[in-house]
Amino acid sequence: MEFSYHNPTAIEFGKGKIEAITNLIPKDNKVLVVYGGGSIKNNGAYDQVVKALENHEWLEFSGVEPNPTVETMNKAVEVIKNEKVDFILAVGGGSVIDGCKYLAAAALYDGDAWDFLDGSAEVEKAMPLGVVLTLAATGSESNNLAVVSRKSTDEKRLYFSNHSYPQFAILDASFMSTLSDRQLSNGLVDAFVHISEQYLTKTNTTLVNDGYAETLYRGLVKLANRWDERRTYLWQENLMHICNQALNFQLGAGVVQDWSTHLIGHELTAFYGLDHGRSLTVVLPHLLREMMDDKGEKIAQMGENVFGIKDDNEAVIQKIEAVFHSIDVATKLNEYDIDDKVIENVQSAFKSHGYLEIGENGTVTLDKVANILTRSMVA
Ligand code: NZQ
Ligand code: ZN
Repeated sequence: MEFSYHNPTAIEFGKGKIEAITNLIPKDNKVLVVYGGGSIKNNGAYDQVVKALENHEWLEFSGVEPNPTVETMNKAVEVIKNEKVDFILAVGGGSVIDGCKYLAAAALYDGDAWDFLDGSAEVEKAMPLGVVLTLAATGSESNNLAVVSRKSTDEKRLYFSNHSYPQFAILDASFMSTLSDRQLSNGLVDAFVHISEQYLTKTNTTLVNDGYAETLYRGLVKLANRWDERRTYLWQENLMHICNQALNFQLGAGVVQDWSTHLIGHELTAFYGLDHGRSLTVVLPHLLREMMDDKGEKIAQMGENVFGIKDDNEAVIQKIEAVFHSIDVATKLNEYDIDDKVIENVQSAFKSHGYLEIGENGTVTLDKVANILTRSMVA
């Protein structure tokens, strides 16, 4: 067992915790409050931010879109430079947070900050960033990953940087009351797949990682089984907690990971606009069947410890599909508005990004990707 893990994001979890930002952001800092399309004005988050910042100098930037783009965030870079902003406060879901991670780095970078996304430069410094989370899903609020798109080229790319951890994250599930069923289900399946990408790989001897992953899975299955309680605070705060834990990369520390489902899903979003969560559920079950030789033992372990299914991996995969279906999330690509170029598009994007042999064993090749997508499209 060997790993380095350092997560500097302070978590403030619970009702009313937003008050903490008054002291978490230095009083003499000029703050840029960044948000998306305005949902924060309906759930109390905006009003509470205004109150918490009453003794700070601050201004705002809105309009960050789902799947944030460099085109939009580069406009915020200008605001930061012109207004001499010291601190960025992201208020929203994964898109606003990721957009702000990019913004925090781009504002201190001389070149075209897409360089971080295409891998030609690494982030060496970033402005301080804080988060008020309004949507449980990505875990972005306390991790070092940013996923950003470029509209002009239909690309959705990602980078990791230890400069991109938010300094703090406020997790108050009261802000989730305005989420639609679709957003709640997207969050649940996103977390499910985050666990899977760190767990459904090779068998290992790390008891903590596997045990915690299985606990989180069982929590999500319980929330899916109690879908009729999804409007309760109790249900929503548990989703928020699980989503946070599923992707602060503690599950992945010291074990081999496989982010193939996400990499394929990101292309489906880039080309066809699928919601992030839904781009994953049309891939995961088919990937598990296609990669059974690599993942069989771990699927069996999950079957036994999460679902109580013994020696029947196909039944485990069907159970995963049933969990997704039970909260009205599709597992077939042909349920979405795609075209006959989907395999070609994903393969050519993978080629240009150098994703030729991905997965825990480097066995998810372009042919395998084609097979996975084909499986997802047969009636
Ligand atoms: O624009 P606003 O008004 O904020 O509305 C958003 C948006 O339309 C809305 N919303 C957010 N909170 C709400 C709300 N609506 C009502 N009530 C609330 N309380 O929800 C819509 C979707 O928001 P978005 O931020 O896009 O969702 P999510 O949190 O799922 O983030 C998805 C993005 O994160 C990336 C995805 O690829 C995608 O770009 N990911 C980031 C990761 C990371 N950084 O660790 C990992 C993930 O795997 C993922 O790839
Ligand atoms: Zn995800």
